[in-house]
Amino acid sequence: MPAAAPKLANVFFEDQHPAAGDSRAELVAGLRRPQKQIKPKYLYDARGSELFEQITLQQEYYPTRTEMAILNQHAAEIAVCCGDDCVLIEPGSGSSEKVRLILDNVRPVSYVPLDISVEFLYESAVKLGREFPWLNIHAICADFSDSWQARTNLSSGRRVIFYPGSTIGNMDPQDAQTFLSGLRHWIGDDSGVLIGVDLQKSEQILHAAYNDAKGVTAEFNLNIFNSINKYTGANFNPENFYHQAFYNQTLKRIEMHLVSKKNHTVDIEGSVIAFDKGESLHTENSYKYSMESFTSLCNAAGFVVTKSWLDEEELFSVYYLTVGE
Ligand code: AVJ
Repeated sequence: MPAAAPKLANVFFEDQHPAAGDSRAELVAGLRRPQKQIKPKYLYDARGSELFEQITLQQEYYPTRTEMAILNQHAAEIAVCCGDDCVLIEPGSGSSEKVRLILDNVRPVSYVPLDISVEFLYESAVKLGREFPWLNIHAICADFSDSWQARTNLSSGRRVIFYPGSTIGNMDPQDAQTFLSGLRHWIGDDSGVLIGVDLQKSEQILHAAYNDAKGVTAEFNLNIFNSINKYTGANFNPENFYHQAFYNQTLKRIEMHLVSKKNHTVDIEGSVIAFDKGESLHTENSYKYSMESFTSLCNAAGFVVTKSWLDEEELFSVYYLTVGE
């Protein structure tokens, strides 16, 4: 527990001390590929998380407000799906903003926010605990892709995973399927997943959402260099790159890149990486699904879609999944 942590009767904090990030070697390997890449998790350092919060407030960025409206509007139906006394588990819970919309309806026996950022998780759990004094919160600082659940003792009750924000869109469909079937294997047959997924739609709407007029998304993308410089001592100069985001129609995904403005080199971990003018570094994918394509993905992972909710404009989708026969 962070030093001088206030104690709240309804908040239990468990730190599993997850590793800070990839090995430096993996990072350098990504930069040595023909298509240079840095994993999207490096976008979310403290500054990056702040910038992402700002993105969610931009007019062009419809996903956050649309998903929140769906959760808010259908909270009672969502609660029926979750059933009584579930253990509600949220991987990558961040500020636990969205779960607030369903808590009064779902009334879980405990809420388990999971995040790798210890300070942020702790502060968010305490804040939530104050706002919802009846709620048992078991916050776990862990890497969700790690075998964190083997090292903890959760309350008994139906496991319901809450995975909003179209976070699953960061993975390619094969990894998303592996992720979902992994979930199915550990949560057990009598369990559910409440998941938010961005829908396929016109290219103009998608393009605008990742190229906002104020340039917040550009700043968010370029901040990956500050994050990497801090993590490794590399000497990336953000001024040598510009933000690029476009919809890849074939693969149904937004791709974010950082494009080099000139021929130059960067030093990282004793390696020299050469960038050509116009060469791009790939930082993030954001896959978009139709209801049909997401349903197939779920089925392939052993889940069935029990219920789905969309907004009126069909911009965003929320699904409740249960384990198939
Ligand atoms: C947090 C991964 C869902 O893909 O829309 C927003 C991240 N990147 N603008 C998304 C993001 C650029 C966001 N996710």
